[in-house]
Amino acid sequence: MKVSIRCLEKKLSQILPLAEAYQRSYNKLSQGYKSPEEMALYTKGYFLKKLWKMAEDKDSVVAVLNINDRPCGFVRYSAIPEYYTCPVNGQSRDLEKGMLDGFEFAWYRKVNFERDVPLNNKTLIVNQIYLDPKIQRCGLGTYLLSKTIPELKKQGYESLIIEYNAHNENAEKFYKGIGFRAFAKTQDFDHIIKKDGQTTFCISDVAIAHTTIDNAISCMRDKQLSKTYITMVQQKNGQSY
Ligand SMILES: CC(C)(COP(=O)(O)OP(=O)(O)OC[C@H]1O[C@@H](n2cnc3c(N)ncnc32)[C@H](O)[C@@H]1OP(=O)(O)O)[C@@H](O)C(=O)NCCC(=O)NCCS
Repeated sequence: MKVSIRCLEKKLSQILPLAEAYQRSYNKLSQGYKSPEEMALYTKGYFLKKLWKMAEDKDSVVAVLNINDRPCGFVRYSAIPEYYTCPVNGQSRDLEKGMLDGFEFAWYRKVNFERDVPLNNKTLIVNQIYLDPKIQRCGLGTYLLSKTIPELKKQGYESLIIEYNAHNENAEKFYKGIGFRAFAKTQDFDHIIKKDGQTTFCISDVAIAHTTIDNAISCMRDKQLSKTYITMVQQKNGQSY
């Protein structure tokens, strides 16, 4: 089995299988707390467009994990969002509006915390990390970070921020193992306004965690992808990867 990492490119041959893996991962994660009506909006087209936009975004970099040359997960690193550093009335906020498969949506987030971690041009935010459920818990998420974070260090970056749903215990364990420590909380206000005027709200608690890049590298030093993990992936997937 060959495991490789490549940068995301604006190529349908790469983005299409990645969108499918992203959709499966997102669906599994959201099953417990998003309504079936809302989940129905997250179509393959939605993930395709999202990845296409990421590939065009000059302020972030996306590393794609491939197994036997098939894209099956990714991590995205971006500059610290403006709403972290430009507070309005003591609170930072971000508002994004758009259309989601025919529905108008607005995404709103506010961040209000004591800034005891550096938020400068040497800090990046890990925006998204999603692996296909078929290959989760085999060490590949750790592998993806262990191969990409040292590259960020070479480029002069010094620390990382991550936001995750406060109820996502698996993600919390994962980030803790890499050296992240939660230091603040915020909330995500997602709302989707349906065409007939009915509005569905989804509000979730979000934890914000931080690590220096040196700390993350040292936490991951002993967690190299072993042959045991590779065997686990093969056993979980049969011939699919
Ligand atoms: C979170 C994610 C990227 C982790 O990648 P992964 O390859 O599955 O994780 P690893 O196998 O490298 O696990 C490292 C550690 O994280 C923790 N962990 C990861 N997945 C876990 C799970 N499903 N249940 C419990 N602990 C988990 C464990 O402590 C694990 O160490 P261990 O196996 O020695 O106990 C991946 O599971 C994923 O894509 N999840 C869905 C999307 C998501 O939650 N993304 C984060 C949103 S902010």
